[in-house]
Amino acid sequence: MIFYLLYYGVESFKFNQNDFDELLKQARERNESLAVTGKLIYCEGTFIQVLEGTEKNVLDIYASIKVDKRLIATKVVTTGTVEKRYFKNWSMDFDEVTLSTINELENCTHPNVTAYITNAPAIKLLKLLTNSK
Ligand SMILES: Cc1cc2nc3c(=O)[nH]c(=O)nc-3n(C[C@H](O)[C@H](O)[C@H](O)COP(=O)(O)O)c2cc1C
Repeated sequence: MIFYLLYYGVESFKFNQNDFDELLKQARERNESLAVTGKLIYCEGTFIQVLEGTEKNVLDIYASIKVDKRLIATKVVTTGTVEKRYFKNWSMDFDEVTLSTINELENCTHPNVTAYITNAPAIKLLKLLTNSK
């Protein structure tokens, strides 16, 4: 079984392209060495990420993310197990979406990203993660 963890985190400063590049390089190297896959999306200052792998490796990475100074707050949305991985590449997919993408997917209007994440059932978040290109 594959363990997964879905969380969101709010940036502590406005990320620029270099910040994203540095973050992804670091994340992809460690994820590959720990056989952790997943997807990271960034929406108007908030990161939403799903990490999947062994429970220990996923929790170890999340423990680092939780204390990462680039985020001011993190919150686990859901954890669970699945039979096989959603994300197969040995890297971390990354997309930037806007709130209007979320609203299009949900066919309604959310005032901001954290309100959406707090209220959305996990399955909707997963839909967003797997649909966004
Ligand atoms: C939004 C965000 C997502 C991150 N995602 C990952 C990730 O998927 N894998 C990873 O190893 N580190 C990720 N990191 C980096 C970790 O927070 C941490 O800096 C890195 O894993 C090194 O951990 P260490 O300082 O405990 O050695 C992420 C950081 C941020 C801010």
